[in-house]
Amino acid sequence: MGIKEQLFSLESFFLFMCMCLVPTPSHTQFTDNHNNVLVPSNTRQREVLEANGRVVVEWEINFDQKSITFDVTGETTGYLGFGLSPAGGMQGADIVIGGIANDGTSYFGDYHGEGDFAPRRDTSQDWRLISAFENTTHTFLRVTRLLDSCDHQDVPITNDTLSLIWALGREDDVTYHAGERGTVAMNLLDPPQPNVDISAFKSWEMTVDLVMPSEKSYAYWCTIYKGPQFGTKTHIVGFRPVLKGPLAVKHTHHFVIYRCTNPPGADANKIFGPFADVRGDNCYTKEAMARRPSQLCSAVLYVWGAGGKDMFLPEHVGYPVGEEKNEYFMLEIHYDNPQQVTDAKFSTGVEVFYTDKLRKYDAALMTIGHTVVASLMIPPQQKDFQIVGHCSTGCTNLAIPPEGMNIFNILMHTHLQGKKMRLRQFRNGTELPWVSNDEHYNFNYQKNRPLLEERRILPGDSLAFECHYDTTTRDKITTAGYSTRDEMCEAFIWYYPKLALESCASFFPIEELYKKFGIKDVEWRVGLEGGPQPIITKPASMANKTFSQVVNENTNWTPKVVEELQRLLVDSDHIAICSGKPPGSRNEPPPPPPGFKPENMKRGRDGEAPPFHPQGPPPKPITVNYPKLDQYYTPPQSCNLAENVIDS
Ligand SMILES: *[C@@H]1O[C@H](CO)[C@@H](O)[C@H](O)[C@H]1NC(C)=O
Ligand SMILES: *[C@@H]1O[C@H](CO)[C@@H](O)[C@H](O)[C@H]1NC(C)=O
Ligand SMILES: *[C@@H]1O[C@H](CO)[C@@H](O)[C@H](O)[C@H]1NC(C)=O
Ligand SMILES: *[C@@H]1O[C@H](CO)[C@@H](O)[C@H](O)[C@H]1NC(C)=O
Repeated sequence: MGIKEQLFSLESFFLFMCMCLVPTPSHTQFTDNHNNVLVPSNTRQREVLEANGRVVVEWEINFDQKSITFDVTGETTGYLGFGLSPAGGMQGADIVIGGIANDGTSYFGDYHGEGDFAPRRDTSQDWRLISAFENTTHTFLRVTRLLDSCDHQDVPITNDTLSLIWALGREDDVTYHAGERGTVAMNLLDPPQPNVDISAFKSWEMTVDLVMPSEKSYAYWCTIYKGPQFGTKTHIVGFRPVLKGPLAVKHTHHFVIYRCTNPPGADANKIFGPFADVRGDNCYTKEAMARRPSQLCSAVLYVWGAGGKDMFLPEHVGYPVGEEKNEYFMLEIHYDNPQQVTDAKFSTGVEVFYTDKLRKYDAALMTIGHTVVASLMIPPQQKDFQIVGHCSTGCTNLAIPPEGMNIFNILMHTHLQGKKMRLRQFRNGTELPWVSNDEHYNFNYQKNRPLLEERRILPGDSLAFECHYDTTTRDKITTAGYSTRDEMCEAFIWYYPKLALESCASFFPIEELYKKFGIKDVEWRVGLEGGPQPIITKPASMANKTFSQVVNENTNWTPKVVEELQRLLVDSDHIAICSGKPPGSRNEPPPPPPGFKPENMKRGRDGEAPPFHPQGPPPKPITVNYPKLDQYYTPPQSCNLAENVIDS
């Protein structure tokens, strides 16, 4: 995701700004000691699986019985197939097929897919048909199953992203496989959208209407908008993606809203005004970056990813705006245009809902992960290569008040090669249950996921965001960058009360990799395709090559070399980033003294506060690593055979 905060983190940290965190004198107090548990008023959920509404599913979870019931309706008088698939295909899928035969009797079975051919009947029939009917156009099945049926031929329903697959048979003969089919990604266990009465809110829209750029297979498009004149402190309480028409749905990969921060004493209208409400342009060309004040628009306000829905904040929190006179926002849209179609005109954007009935807490967003630096690097031909970004105890100690901060929503993000990710939390030598975990990450389905139970982070806790990648389809290394072919590893978390904390991250020091690959000196260049990259200046034999080129040309990726790199990236020290207010905002720490250079830094240990010396010597980076633990978290094994009997 093109997160300028991350883009600039290395440079700002090293070159022109130390975004070190300064403790804020006053914190919002909150006294309730119980975590807020999201109790959905309505646990029944519905999704249209076929674009024209010809297949619809509704489901309801019974958490006491650990079971789920689906109502599936399909436009067919042949068989109706429905299933759960880890990756979206037939391979490994858990499938039910049923319908009403010509003689009026129902038929039904529990199947599993082994590949792109007719599924096989399971040895153990764990799905139960509750009812079935057919009229002249449609077939309906109500089926139920345990969330985990303990059958290796079924797919357990967990918090991992799953795909719902469907098939409409032309006949009742299930061996006759012709028919239509489709797949839609879903998080079945996530709580449903709260029933919100949007008429109680005001809203404004930020949309971009243009012919999608086609010079590349993707584009990041940035447009600045002036917000409404709120006149007083106001809470933003919800976001609704506006994708007008099928082209918008097809080509909008994700978008991010950033809030622009006005430098102290400056006139926001002068700085951002000239860029507002015009059509915008490419985000990361050198010219655009020099012209547009996008560095000042770096506080993430909302992220939407393909497949995502509306997002409304819980009733006790709101995102504060309106405390300044003129407020600006920047919308960054990532268009996906693999065929480089030239004439796709459509409109993409967001409707933002707000209220002046202030809620109890101010909310904010922060990122956790590995910064977008080329040391986020994945060798080719790997089935499972891991990258980690740490949020250090030094940072949580400095930034979080004794009462803690509460996470209520998370969006985990990688690009195309990401397969699994997990946000871990450590406290006093013990690992707490994972904040979030997805074993089947689906790049085309990136949703803001509300946590069923808010998670509290206390000062002194540390976090690790882990991403696993599959590069078996690649023959060159993959490094960090903005193209979906480059990679990222970051989690966006929504939390309250609002703190001066916007990024708690880390990166493996890339200098260590330079040494490993014989690189003596580099020059950082921004504005390149994919983001800032080190260009080699020494030795002469490598001059003018990118880091990736040098590594690709000189490395034979034997298992031993891969293993060594894996251990280095994951187990050794990282440099911690603990950033507060973005450059230019109020309470911003003054810039580091002139002559500030990374090589002058000495390294500290995790647990120390990131030092900040406005007048004194340059700050030294804090290193961070996995804590040494007495106890690791293991998720409970839900598959207890004795328990797993549905009460009929
Ligand atoms: C058949 O059932 C479907 C699904 O309940 C319904 O939408 C449709 O109108 C019904 N068709 C007829 C002809 O009754
Ligand atoms: C899913 O995550 C929630 C926390 O958000 C947890 O309470 C629940 O046990 C998890 N469910 C499963 C089946 O892992
Ligand atoms: C960690 O342990 C120390 C010593 O036992 C204790 O004082 C402290 O409160 C604990 N911190 C947390 C966050 O539980
Ligand atoms: C590298 O590029 C610069 C400027 O583009 C050029 O002056 C220099 O000769 C190049 N060096 C090599 C070794 O190709």
